[in-house]
Amino acid sequence: MANQPLEREHFGSKIGVIMASAGSAIGLGNIWKFPYEVGKNGGAAFIMVYLACILFIGLAIVIAEYVVGRRSGANAVGAFKKLAPRSLWWLVGMLGVLAAVTILSFYGVVAGWTFEYLFQASKNAFVGKSPDELNTMFNTFVSNPYRPLMWQLLFMLLTCGLIYSGVKKGIERYTEILMPLLFIVIILLAIRAVTLPGGGAGIRFLFHPDFSAINGDVVLSALGHAFFSLSLGLGAIITYGSYVSKSDNLTAISIEVVLLDTVIAIMAGVAIFPAVFAYGIEPSSGPSLVFKTLPNVFQQMPGGMLWGILFFFLLGVAALTSSVSLLEVVTAYVSEQLNIKRHLAIFLSALVITVIGVFCSLSQGPLSHVLIFKHNIFDLLDHLSANWMLPLGGMFTSLFVGWHMKKSDLEDELSNGGLLKVSALPLLRFVLRWLAPLGIFFVFLYNLGVI
Ligand code: PHE
Repeated sequence: MANQPLEREHFGSKIGVIMASAGSAIGLGNIWKFPYEVGKNGGAAFIMVYLACILFIGLAIVIAEYVVGRRSGANAVGAFKKLAPRSLWWLVGMLGVLAAVTILSFYGVVAGWTFEYLFQASKNAFVGKSPDELNTMFNTFVSNPYRPLMWQLLFMLLTCGLIYSGVKKGIERYTEILMPLLFIVIILLAIRAVTLPGGGAGIRFLFHPDFSAINGDVVLSALGHAFFSLSLGLGAIITYGSYVSKSDNLTAISIEVVLLDTVIAIMAGVAIFPAVFAYGIEPSSGPSLVFKTLPNVFQQMPGGMLWGILFFFLLGVAALTSSVSLLEVVTAYVSEQLNIKRHLAIFLSALVITVIGVFCSLSQGPLSHVLIFKHNIFDLLDHLSANWMLPLGGMFTSLFVGWHMKKSDLEDELSNGGLLKVSALPLLRFVLRWLAPLGIFFVFLYNLGVI
């Protein structure tokens, strides 16, 4: 078994690691999925549960994945094989690879939608359209059998191109400049949105919790989204961790990435919800929410067309820096574990993912009548991967680092061989051994109707 990576690169600098990891974390999850989950799950109460999941469960598992990745220097499956030979822990990595395939299949579809919207923005197609017309515009587009597929294909090709050009050059370079720009654009959109007449209701929806809205489903969605947004539970951070240099401080990197990701999601909420209420859009409209809402806001800004172009361009880039990390999980596994040349591995992985994605895309139109457990194909894959596969993967990773890894090994990795002080080690181990796995376990049991 080829556990040893063939040509492993390292990130150039600490800021490079943070940027690449933040690039993976920040994506459609923050700007497209977070708002629609908030809308579907009753607003502020969902956000509170989400923040609790990040703080009490997510952060510790981010650190755990970095530790597993850097210590092993291997892909999601190889990492477990290396750190726990002759055991079944590698199945956790395998679950992660499956989750990455599942997520990227629908992620590519939504990323394709951002390309269509970039195209429409550059034709100035939003201007003068009423909220109703914008609604119809989106529905007509996604139910077209061919057009979304074309964009999805283009997106998958770009993802392959980036991976092909290597970890360091491919990812670091793009994120370092474009992520901060995305942040600035979102802040400006948020400022415009909160000053819209009638926007106050959106702010109330975001920040005044109605705790009676919390139920098992809301908690499961919040937990699942915490994992999805942090790129957690499928080995993406393990894989990136394997490229992190030995002198970087893993705890500090984890905290910075988690903070950046959370702030951007909240800002996206502030940019979107005032407009949702100001234009009478249904907060629970689901995956279409952002696409139906923001074009209304661009029109209210001086130079509206440019804002639309800039926003959808940057959202497309943010999607790319995330999809790269998803495809990297699959590619690193296929090339290193199955011993297939990296270039061929990229192609094969992307092919399988794109074909599954075609069904997700068609489930918005021609195949919308195909329902499995009351979900269409798109929603099913989204629900299954984010809410079940990722927390499950995270739970096992947490147990692995908490119980299987020796305390001294964990300490060695976090302190860079004794150079750094790790005063939070007992707390971290408590969370990894008990709090996180039990928390996830009980949310699962509750949702399965066992308790
Ligand atoms: N975190 C990414 C986003 O928010 C999606 C993602 C999930 C990427 C899992 C990698 C792994 O868009």
